[in-house]
Amino acid sequence: MSFNSLKIGKYTIEKPIVQGGMGVGISWDQLAGNVSKEGGLGVISSVGTGYFMDKEFAGKLVANRPLSEDNFYSRDGFEAIIKSARSIAGDKPLAANILYAISGYGNVVRNACELGIDIIITGAGLPTNMPEFTEGYPDVALVPIVSSAKALKIICKRWKKRYDRLPDAVIVEGPKSGGHQGFTYEQCKLEEYRLENLVAPVVAEAALWGDIPVI
Ligand SMILES: Cc1cc2nc3c(=O)[nH]c(=O)nc-3n(C[C@H](O)[C@H](O)[C@H](O)COP(=O)(O)O)c2cc1C
Repeated sequence: MSFNSLKIGKYTIEKPIVQGGMGVGISWDQLAGNVSKEGGLGVISSVGTGYFMDKEFAGKLVANRPLSEDNFYSRDGFEAIIKSARSIAGDKPLAANILYAISGYGNVVRNACELGIDIIITGAGLPTNMPEFTEGYPDVALVPIVSSAKALKIICKRWKKRYDRLPDAVIVEGPKSGGHQGFTYEQCKLEEYRLENLVAPVVAEAALWGDIPVI
């Protein structure tokens, strides 16, 4: 079977497969590096990088756990993960998953840019100010995760007005995507929120704004 490649910003993903970001410690250097190496898009999770290599990068532990948010996320840990993934993937595109809901979101996005990440993927909220944190890194592609056409519309409207920018691609996820999309338990069971029924309206909305690939 052959697939068409997928273009996200200036990057070409040879095989149009985007590995889901999975924190804590699941989609780090080995998984993401190898997915990219094989021609898909490997996605490094930025969550809990203080835990990387048996908490080597957490400054302070209490009861053998990284103390507070400052040690749960470690820039050095994130750097070590990205370096290791790069050593596997070479110059193939590599993405980072950075949840909008985390504290210090902007800082982590900035770090990802500084550390050579090509594509940033953000869910768990409406990242209406995402481009603000990638200023000075115009090649870094920005990919929000949405679960409705309305969410994509809000993002496109704000980004266009404030930053003269649009998403380089958009990911649609339904209620079964892992719980970050804000569906209530009752909504998870409703026909209208099934992923199959969310895709077409998002594709239609994306087309109104230009050539935004929908993943
Ligand atoms: C263990 C686990 C951790 C996850 N962590 C994240 C995360 O940190 N950020 C995120 O955007 N999605 C996260 N997800 C959601 C996945 O990226 C993906 O959207 C989801 O698993 C649906 O894809 P699937 O049907 O192929 O599993 C996680 C999923 C799993 C199973």
